[in-house]
Amino acid sequence: MSLQTLSEWLRCPNCFLPLAPGAGLTLTCAVGHSFDVNKRGYATLLPGSRKFIGDSAAMLDARDDFQAAGWYRPLERAIARIISAENPRRILDVGCGTGYYVRGVLGDAQADSVRALGMDLSPAAVARTVRSSDAVDGLVADVWSPLPIRDGAADVVLNVFAPRNAGEFHRVLRPGGLLLVVVPRQTHLQELRAAGLALDIQPDKAAHLTASLGARFALECRETLSDELALSGRDIAALIGMGPSAHHTDPSEVGSAAEGVRCVTAAFDLFSFRRRDS
Ligand SMILES: C[S@@+](CC[C@H](N)C(=O)[O-])C[C@H]1O[C@@H](n2cnc3c(N)ncnc32)[C@H](O)[C@@H]1O
Ligand SMILES: [Zn+2]
Repeated sequence: MSLQTLSEWLRCPNCFLPLAPGAGLTLTCAVGHSFDVNKRGYATLLPGSRKFIGDSAAMLDARDDFQAAGWYRPLERAIARIISAENPRRILDVGCGTGYYVRGVLGDAQADSVRALGMDLSPAAVARTVRSSDAVDGLVADVWSPLPIRDGAADVVLNVFAPRNAGEFHRVLRPGGLLLVVVPRQTHLQELRAAGLALDIQPDKAAHLTASLGARFALECRETLSDELALSGRDIAALIGMGPSAHHTDPSEVGSAAEGVRCVTAAFDLFSFRRRDS
């Protein structure tokens, strides 16, 4: 991270003018609004004093464990393949979590000059993502607010199991840019759901997704991944602990509830959307 590369992604959250490196560890706009950059290398640009929560450090630890065990490696490879085919220079990962997927993309990048911005509501998530690669800058921001990211700043927007803002994704993508969205399929974790360990998945998630994005993006391709994972009790605990069910499940009860579970379905849809001109 450098203040220069970070600032090249960003605009002022107050007046929307570009941000540039200021004195010390700050970013400033031409009007004089000034924002501190964390010494760990990311900016926090949240509107007002509203309180936000993203994934906690415990959820991120669980996600790190599960991803490090390689269970979602096929998904990580599929994402890297789709994005590499675009030969992008600038990749924005919205809801980056641990940074696992954007790291995979950067690992396959042909040019040294490829840069990424990891954005998440959780400072702990952004800190991990930035720490994991020199090619990644970090931003703590809320996807539901006007993003403090410049118009057309990204060649690709990546969005994996995270909230979406269609209007803002369209604005921050360059003309003709790619939006890659990954969502769970109805069968994802169905065995854990049957054991009372996972939350329901919204029916017709794919139809809702294409309806909500269709005015601004043309669906170019849909890929499906589905696999049966032979998980250990420890893997299952990590899987529950890293997702939304963590808020509703007592960790001490996971072991007994998961006893009869042998295989767990992991099933995803990957949607490639092309930004429409407007
Ligand atoms: C299920 S996790 C997925 C993380 C990562 N993409 C992955 O698949 O490993 C969802 C992420 O979205 C973030 N998130 C939730 N609400 C958000 C918001 N309003 N704005 C930005 N990020 C948000 C969470 O903090 C979390 O890191
Ligand atoms: Zn400003």
